[in-house]
Amino acid sequence: MKKILCIGAGYVGGPTMAVIAKHCPELEIVCVDINEDRIRAWQSDDLPIYEPGLLDVVQQVRGKNLFFSTDIVGNIPDADLIFVSVNTPTKTFGQGAGRAADLQYWEKTARQILQYSRSDTIVVEKSTLPVRTAEAMHRILDSRSSGPKFEVLSNPEFLAEGTAIADLESPDRVLIGGPTTPAGQKAVEALAAIYRHWVPAEKILTTNVWSSEMSKLAANAFLAQRVSSINSLSALCEATDADITEVSRALGMDRRIGGRFLQAGVGFGGSCFKKDILNLVYLCEHYGLHEVGAYWQMVVEINHYQQRRFVHRMIQSMFNTLAGKRIAIFGFAFKAHTSDTRESPGIEICRELVEEHAQVVIHDPKALENAAKDLHDLPQKQLVFESDPYRAAEGAHAIALLTDWPQFQTLDYRRIFQSMVQPAFLFDGRNLLNHADLFEIGFNVYSIGKRPLSHLD
Ligand code: UDX
Ligand code: ADP
Repeated sequence: MKKILCIGAGYVGGPTMAVIAKHCPELEIVCVDINEDRIRAWQSDDLPIYEPGLLDVVQQVRGKNLFFSTDIVGNIPDADLIFVSVNTPTKTFGQGAGRAADLQYWEKTARQILQYSRSDTIVVEKSTLPVRTAEAMHRILDSRSSGPKFEVLSNPEFLAEGTAIADLESPDRVLIGGPTTPAGQKAVEALAAIYRHWVPAEKILTTNVWSSEMSKLAANAFLAQRVSSINSLSALCEATDADITEVSRALGMDRRIGGRFLQAGVGFGGSCFKKDILNLVYLCEHYGLHEVGAYWQMVVEINHYQQRRFVHRMIQSMFNTLAGKRIAIFGFAFKAHTSDTRESPGIEICRELVEEHAQVVIHDPKALENAAKDLHDLPQKQLVFESDPYRAAEGAHAIALLTDWPQFQTLDYRRIFQSMVQPAFLFDGRNLLNHADLFEIGFNVYSIGKRPLSHLD
């Protein structure tokens, strides 16, 4: 094994190749993408994605054994192993629209590999793909009777954005699915040997291809289900005298349940959860398992419900109208420590606020550029993008906190309160702030799954 190629230099491909390059100095790794701007950014110190610790790793290996390029076909012929991490968004057209994965980028890549490969190659499916697509890829790659042989492996990525480098450096497990043939097993071993440079052997799990693909969808479905479960109960807490933080704590201390992913909020976002669950649902329906599909579909429904509920509570508490009111949005990224806004609850919430004729002022430490792209089709006179949180809140009737950026905890809320229109409202969509202190300052505080702290009753 000498040369590794990664097709698709995005949130998955970029960080993953940087960490492999760091631990495997004897390998030459090339990361390619069709997007020229992206590649130019990877070659600079202004990386195309924000990820804590990433620039440091990239600087250690770039130009030594990690290279970024737009030359896809030129790098295929001598690659021994090719990671495919192109995007597989949800289909927006035709059969399965809104649920099935759009595999056009991925199939194009498979055909390019077939056309340009000159020797036997291991192809590793890194993007999340619906179960059984590795098999389809194998069929494309196997369509010629002579020429190089391909082994297709599934090696799903479990890194979470915002903690990608830490997750790659010490993963809970590395999963490699491969064919049970001797050649398939040899390929699995070759990939496992790369990870063994820094991951303990007992954490490297090998399975058949389908189990590996299914495990990725299942892991994300289970995590999302925990978030939707706690969010569904937050609605019940608001209707009663229970407090969701207390409930989460009590649940989490049960070792059978565990404490993580029980933080109630405005709902989950990110490129994986919704897409993977929809894929799972589509698969269930394909196999006639309608009840199973409906079960997982509800996880997505609750997520939309939670976002609608949040806006509804804003309208209701602010005297049933938001028209003409200035609303400061604190945080637009789908979670803290990332510039990524894909499927962020902020998108839906801001759209609804604009529909209510509010003036929406968006502040985020890293995601303003993406926010502007996500909302480009809305009437721009109702939108402001503001890099300073104090200026965002100035003259606002309300603040809606949508992302759990820790820096929001240390802002001077007394100063912010004084610059706002009274009565001032604060909607904490992540239960991140100290609500008693904010109430004391004078805010009317609404959070998730808790009784409001209002001066107006
Ligand atoms: C997820 C999986 O965690 C990762 O293993 C997989 O490879 C890709 O998908 P990611 O989308 O980066 O990673 O973020 P994650 O940390 O899982 O958070 C997803 C969403 O759930 C975020 O919007 C987050 O704010 C929300 N969330 C998470 C909650 O609302 N409450 C929680 O308790 C945890
Ligand atoms: P992920 O979060 O899965 O990494 P991204 O959208 O961040 O998703 O990255 C996927 C990358 O794949 C993008 O940079 C996109 O330009 C790239 N890509 C899509 N299709 C192709 C292709 N046919 N060849 C090379 N790169 C591609």
